[in-house]
Amino acid sequence: MMTRRFVLVLALVAASFSTAQVATLAQHKPGEFSAYDDIANELLGRMTLAEKVGQMTQADLQYLGDLSDVRTLALGSVLSGGNSDPKDGNSPEAWARANDACQREALATRLGVPLLYGVDAVHGHSNVIGAVIFPHNIGLGCTRDPSLVEEVHRITAIEMRRTGVNWDFAPCVTVPQDDRWGRTYEGFGESPALATLLGAAAVSGLQGNDLADPLRVLGCAKHFVGDGGTSAEKRDASSSEFRAGVRLRLDQGDTRVDEATLRRVHLAPYPAAIAAGVGTIMPSYSSWNGEKCSASHYLLTEVLKEELGFEGFLISDYNAIDQLASDYKECIRLSINAGMDMVMVPERYQEFVTKLTELVNEGAVPMERIDDAVRRILRVKAAMGLLGPDPVIMSDANLASSFGSEPHREVARRAVRQSLVLLKNDGVLPLKDGNFAVTGSAADDLGMQCGGWTIDWQGKTGDVTTGGVTIRDALADAANDRLVAESDQAEAIVVVVGEKPYAEGTGDTDEPKLSDEDQDAVEAAVATDKPVVLVVISGRPLVLGDAADKCAAVVAAWLPGTEGAGVADVLLGDYAPTGKLSFTWPKSADQHPINIGDENYEPLYPYGHGLCY
Ligand code: GLC
Repeated sequence: MMTRRFVLVLALVAASFSTAQVATLAQHKPGEFSAYDDIANELLGRMTLAEKVGQMTQADLQYLGDLSDVRTLALGSVLSGGNSDPKDGNSPEAWARANDACQREALATRLGVPLLYGVDAVHGHSNVIGAVIFPHNIGLGCTRDPSLVEEVHRITAIEMRRTGVNWDFAPCVTVPQDDRWGRTYEGFGESPALATLLGAAAVSGLQGNDLADPLRVLGCAKHFVGDGGTSAEKRDASSSEFRAGVRLRLDQGDTRVDEATLRRVHLAPYPAAIAAGVGTIMPSYSSWNGEKCSASHYLLTEVLKEELGFEGFLISDYNAIDQLASDYKECIRLSINAGMDMVMVPERYQEFVTKLTELVNEGAVPMERIDDAVRRILRVKAAMGLLGPDPVIMSDANLASSFGSEPHREVARRAVRQSLVLLKNDGVLPLKDGNFAVTGSAADDLGMQCGGWTIDWQGKTGDVTTGGVTIRDALADAANDRLVAESDQAEAIVVVVGEKPYAEGTGDTDEPKLSDEDQDAVEAAVATDKPVVLVVISGRPLVLGDAADKCAAVVAAWLPGTEGAGVADVLLGDYAPTGKLSFTWPKSADQHPINIGDENYEPLYPYGHGLCY
């Protein structure tokens, strides 16, 4: 039975197209964007070259000044990169004003084609103060629960649409093979099967089965292909990173594997994401055997579009095409001719428009390629209902009450509970009775719980947002009468430690391990001769040294987000842990990279490990 909303959408579409066309649209499967070619081609046929090139251009809000370039260049899309907040702050209202202002500029163009507004809502609408921040994918991977992952992304879409933002650069379906990579936590796990299962669930949660649903958003499977398989390379000793102690580089590196391995491990999640209807795919900064993915006609056109039948469009990564050659115009030519359809060109978008136009006029980029790119973009916009008579593109204040709401937080708390992995327990857990103390660098730090991609690109420690609860506060809320300040009054000590927030290459490290400060905190707790419960807040498995031996229990909590109560639920026994490792937990740094299926596989805790009460 058709829902009311679906009937409304059909009515809108019917207003501008024939009955036969409308009937066709109602029958197509998610991802079958070619069903919208009649609509797309009709509009394409009316577009000038300038309007076509504009559709292929995505600029960043922070560089758009008074936004008039959205109109004068007829831009197809605007993004807010990690630190690109509205001028008047980071509230949902400020985001709504920014989105609506950009859309009004787009509607004022000759053809009035609405914008796609893209953000990295990679664990909730995580740029915006007060949004529910869900566990990062590494934690969701440990739940092994596709229906939960779908629900998490459905809620993320609703919180995005409150602000009007209609495009999420998610899910990241990377299959990280080396935990020393700063983006490990953006992956669901080291197994392609897990990324396939949960990546498709995330797409379904974001997009639903009708992209015109005003409570859904456009998804983006990323980063195609092999982003998580790069080889660790020594950084230049003169580099600032090397001087800061980061000896290795993995991010945006080179994935040196044969094609069979590339397909088996890194390509695997994409057919399922495409079958789930994902409307966009983001090529990776990284290379495959020395060739940049963003310039690979074989990967982008022959494999992705022709062999896998992807009918949506490709969006480049942030300035990623700049890395393709020394001359910018050549960068543009290489990427567009390889199959890139829209380019994320945050600041130099005017130059991009000028140079791509020159390339077309010189015949260096065929008009057929331009038309294919624009048709793909317009198909997706048509599927989203954006080309109908009354597109839903403005923010929706009716959703304000659900933004950051308790029902949404309850789902996030459930996701936290299910993401925790009990690695070791000699019986001290659950803390059913008796006094306990809580210490450690991450015990009372919402920013550490949330990790990178939270309010700011890199995230930050401390009170990073509103509406959340730290692990310490959650324990106090649930068992305040048993929480003691001093360890000598406690019968058990909970030590919550872990990584400070980071994102992308900033998180590359040659030795993911507990910091000296955290090791000291563990030692101090162990010295009391009370049983110690070690809770690790991290974007990847950390080498624990002798802490694992000395502590009575060890819990991996990953990057749980704002709902620290989910951690308290497990520690206090209100929820028996069910999480299973989605990444192998190494014994020592010299084991990196270590993954299930390796020969001589002797980790501290294997992939799939997870105890219960
Ligand atoms: C970043 C990331 C990508 C993100 C994009 C926009 O550099 O590589 O995952 O979607 O830029 O913020």
